[in-house]
Amino acid sequence: MITLGIESSCDETGLALYCSQRGLLSHALFSQIDLHALYGGVVPELASRDHIKRLVPLTRQVCAEANIELSGISNVAYTRGPGLAGALLTGAMMARSLAWSLGIPALGVHHLEGHLLAPMLEEHAPDFPLVCLLVSGGHTQLIVVRALGHYQLLGESIDDAAGEAFDKTAKMLGLGYPGGAALSALARSGDASTVSLPRPMLDRPNLDFSFSGLKTAAITRWKAFSGNEPEREQFKADLAASFELAVVDVLIGKSIKAMKQSGLSTLVISGGVSANQTLRVRADALKASHDIDVFYPRLEFCTDNGAMIALAGSKRLQNGESEDLEVSVQPRWSLEALSG
Ligand code: KG4
Ligand code: ZN
Repeated sequence: MITLGIESSCDETGLALYCSQRGLLSHALFSQIDLHALYGGVVPELASRDHIKRLVPLTRQVCAEANIELSGISNVAYTRGPGLAGALLTGAMMARSLAWSLGIPALGVHHLEGHLLAPMLEEHAPDFPLVCLLVSGGHTQLIVVRALGHYQLLGESIDDAAGEAFDKTAKMLGLGYPGGAALSALARSGDASTVSLPRPMLDRPNLDFSFSGLKTAAITRWKAFSGNEPEREQFKADLAASFELAVVDVLIGKSIKAMKQSGLSTLVISGGVSANQTLRVRADALKASHDIDVFYPRLEFCTDNGAMIALAGSKRLQNGESEDLEVSVQPRWSLEALSG
């Protein structure tokens, strides 16, 4: 069974072909980052218009790369939500129209379920049950996953998501948008012990997060700095390193608590922030210190992509799921709602 996956929830158009027997056949991505960087954030109308331009050529590209005709596709999976309504509609329309013209099923899937399953695209894949630390631009959540579609939220950010805090801090440091990866790169030349920043909610027993105060603390320290230019550059790197370490300390500390609370030993870390190297180094050490097996998506599948949507759709379609022909998206949609 060959599934075409379509991701268009925000500023990346992702297409992929996934085979239930052979795994991932091909994938292609167009990132709109340059388009939105000019405005310092995603402009929803521009995002929708650009998805419309890319969807058909990228579909042709993944078919050509996998050497598969459109008629060889068994079904289509698309991101139904959460995300930007207009952007979601472009992918949903494409999926529905293609499926209708080919006489095959289409199914809308949950974007976060895609992120959560992304490590299962790899040969060394995790098994259920597991705990997922989902850290993206829009979400920071700890979820117990007993099986596909069985999601129990243990905790989440009560304000900014981790990626959002990275992006806002990076923007303030003049590192562009979205600046999470740039801030992390800069952090490598900084000393994380120089600037002391808070570890919000780390000492609380619950599994919720809060990154807004940490972001404000970093901004305040940056504005208060009064050294000369070379000192300023070094302080910027030190602040980036200190901020990154503070976020990672909280993410790791809460993940350990979640593992203890759930009694499970498999941790999946996914979403854009799971590309962060400091986070990966710290998480990898959990095997030795806490006997926790940690899995991530490959780097290019940490951020939004079509492969994770094709995989999530393939699993649900194999379970016999179907939907009617109505085109509907869910810009707001909690992962727990899938548990029914
Ligand atoms: O999962 P994703 O593509 O989008 C959402 O579904 O929200 O995540 C994008 C987020 C952005 O906030 C970006 O700055 C962050 O992931 N990100 C990183 C790194 N790479 C991407 N944050 C920290 N370190 C990185 N290396
Ligand atoms: Zn995402």
